[in-house]
Amino acid sequence: MPKIAVTRWIPDEALEVLRTVGEVVVSPVDRPLTPEELREFVAGSSAVVSMLHDRVDGPVVDAAGDGLRVVANVAVGYDNVDVAALAGRDVVVTNTPGVLTEATADLTFGLLLAITRRLGEGERLVRAERPWSFHLGFLLGSGLQGRTLGIVGPGQIGRAVAARAAAFGMRIVYSGRSRKPDFPGEFVPFEELLARADIVSLHCPLTQDTRHLIDATALRAMKPGAYLVNTTRGPVVDESALADALEAGEIAGAALDVFEAEPDVEPRLLSREDVVLTPHLGSATAETRTAMAVLAARNVASVLAGAEPLTKVTP
Ligand code: GLV
Ligand code: GLV
Repeated sequence: MPKIAVTRWIPDEALEVLRTVGEVVVSPVDRPLTPEELREFVAGSSAVVSMLHDRVDGPVVDAAGDGLRVVANVAVGYDNVDVAALAGRDVVVTNTPGVLTEATADLTFGLLLAITRRLGEGERLVRAERPWSFHLGFLLGSGLQGRTLGIVGPGQIGRAVAARAAAFGMRIVYSGRSRKPDFPGEFVPFEELLARADIVSLHCPLTQDTRHLIDATALRAMKPGAYLVNTTRGPVVDESALADALEAGEIAGAALDVFEAEPDVEPRLLSREDVVLTPHLGSATAETRTAMAVLAARNVASVLAGAEPLTKVTP
C-alpha cells in the first residue's frame, strides 16, 4: 500500500477515503510540524495531505522521494505550496475550492458587522462588568444600508460576499485582474475602489502581486471613515502600516481573520478598540471543514488510482 502522510488531524470521513487507497500516517503532534519535521515525516510517501501552515517546497518533495505523486492542500489558498517546483518534479497539487465559499462569506459578514457595529468593544465592556446604560449616544457604529462595499478579488468567495451585501442594501464595487461579466457590482480600478469604498473586503489570493497590496499608500487612499476586512491571507496587508494608519486616524477600523505571521499579531493592534481579531476561522464550520478534508482525500484517491484529480492547481 502506498504511504499517505497527513500533516495534522483530519476528520474521520476523510481518513476513511484515504484508507481505501493507502496506508495513512497522521502526524501525532498537535501543532504545525517544523520544516525539518515535515521533511522527515513525508519520507517515503506517495501522497501528502498538507495544511495551510505547511511550507511545501522542492526540498520537501525531495525528502519525500521519487514515489511522491500528489500534494493535496486542505485549503482553497495554496500560497504555502511551491506549485512550480512541484510541477517540475511531476507532483500534482490540489486545493479545495468551492466547498468553503459560503462559510467564508458568512464569516466575512460576521466581521463586517462586528467592526461596523462595535461588537467586540461592546462584548469586552459587558464582560469587564463596567457600569453602562443604554442612551442614544451609546457605542454608536455605522450602518451598512446604502454604503459601498469594495470587493478586492471577484472570485467565488468575493461573489458570495457580494450576494450577502446586496441583501444588506449595499452598493458594490470590485477590482481584480479582469472584469467579470456577470459579477453583481461595478468593476473599477483598485485605486478607485479604495477611494470609494466605505468597507474594503479582501478576497484575492496571496501572490507576488498581492503581497502588501494594502500598504501605507493604499491605506492613505482609503476614506477616513472606512473599514478594512481581511479574510484571505495575512500578508496581503502590511500589518505595521495598518497599525500606523489606525493610530493616525486614516481609517476607522479593521477586522482581521488572518495575519502576516500567524499566529502572531502586530502588537500595536492587540490593544486597539477599533480592531476585530479572529483566529483564521473563515472556513471553520464542522460541515465545511469535513467537506474540505474529504475533497482533499478524494483528490489523493484519484491521483493514486491514475485518474485526474477533482480540483487540480495549475502553475
Ligand atoms: C483557508 O484559509 C483556505 O485557504 O482554505
Ligand atoms: C480572486 O479571488 C480572483 O479570482 O480574482
